[in-house]
Amino acid sequence: MRLRVLLTGAGGLLGKKISQIFSTSHEVIGVYNTSKPEGNYVMSDLSKLDNVRKIVSEIKPDVVIHAAALTNVDKCEEDKGLAKLLNVDVTREIAKSSNQHGSLLVYVSTDYVFDGVKGNYREEDEPNPINFYGLTKLQGEREVMENSSSFIIARTSTPYGSNPASEKDNFALWLIKKLKNNEKVNVVTDQITSPTLNTSFALMLKELIESYKRYNFIIHLTDASQVSRYEFSVKLAEVFESNKELITPTTMSEIKWKAKRPKNSSLNVEKANNVLKVNRPLNLIEALKILKSEIIDLNV
Ligand SMILES: NC(=O)c1ccc[n+]([C@@H]2O[C@H](COP(=O)([O-])OP(=O)(O)OC[C@H]3O[C@@H](n4cnc5c(N)ncnc54)[C@H](OP(=O)(O)O)[C@@H]3O)[C@@H](O)[C@H]2O)c1
Repeated sequence: MRLRVLLTGAGGLLGKKISQIFSTSHEVIGVYNTSKPEGNYVMSDLSKLDNVRKIVSEIKPDVVIHAAALTNVDKCEEDKGLAKLLNVDVTREIAKSSNQHGSLLVYVSTDYVFDGVKGNYREEDEPNPINFYGLTKLQGEREVMENSSSFIIARTSTPYGSNPASEKDNFALWLIKKLKNNEKVNVVTDQITSPTLNTSFALMLKELIESYKRYNFIIHLTDASQVSRYEFSVKLAEVFESNKELITPTTMSEIKWKAKRPKNSSLNVEKANNVLKVNRPLNLIEALKILKSEIIDLNV
């Protein structure tokens, strides 16, 4: 069935790839604020909550994928008012509006809802965010559950991909460019996540939505490997045949971040592996090989 999909954050790291992959079989209307995406889109500042109501009622989507957020973790700590507005209030409005129009709401959430003490978190584990970004995303999840009768909460982790994000290169692109220019980089060994290729996330999400049976649920949609940024970087250097000696291990205590980061916010993907039949979480090497082929195609 061809679905009418309203996608917020369409010019972002995940949004761009979701738009590209969903457009192969669905009608996608992307919402952007400052980063204009390709294809069919509307420009709208969602922080003006009337705009949210207007867009959903005009477009009447079958599905709303809400990927817009204030994703800069340190900025969320510095400007809590803006973080709450974008990540909580906008999400509440999206949930109410999509519910009114009978749309399925997909809320893209994060591993940062967890404190990172134990890692390998399952969907039913108790969230306990340790920074304001994580808190607002958790509150966003709660707004979705309270205000929408048809939803999927898809938590992902450390997305990367061949397309630059709205504001800056993602970690993988940044690293590829540094290694290509023979520049040394310091990368932390004590922060473990479940890095996820945006292509993999978008394919898993598409399959999930196409097989959705009106159960409301949370699902961890990440790739399968749980690694530190350092291990990720070394594997990337190997796959890209770059000089891994340029990568120096460091620890989080050496980095001056405004917001605390969870030590191990990796996500368990057993549920995704059970629910998905075709596009399952990839291991790191598989994902990096796809990234490499996309980069060669794009000539980045
Ligand atoms: N990045 C991560 O590490 C990470 C990890 C786990 C989960 N997530 C979640 O995944 C989702 C997508 O993240 P991403 O990495 O793709 O982020 P991103 O590249 O920063 O994209 C976020 C998008 O939000 C949009 N946005 C911000 N303020 C807006 C406003 N006032 N009105 C309309 N749109 C606005 C931006 O649009 P413009 O650029 O057009 O202004 C941007 O395209 C988010 O919900 C995030 O919380 C991210």
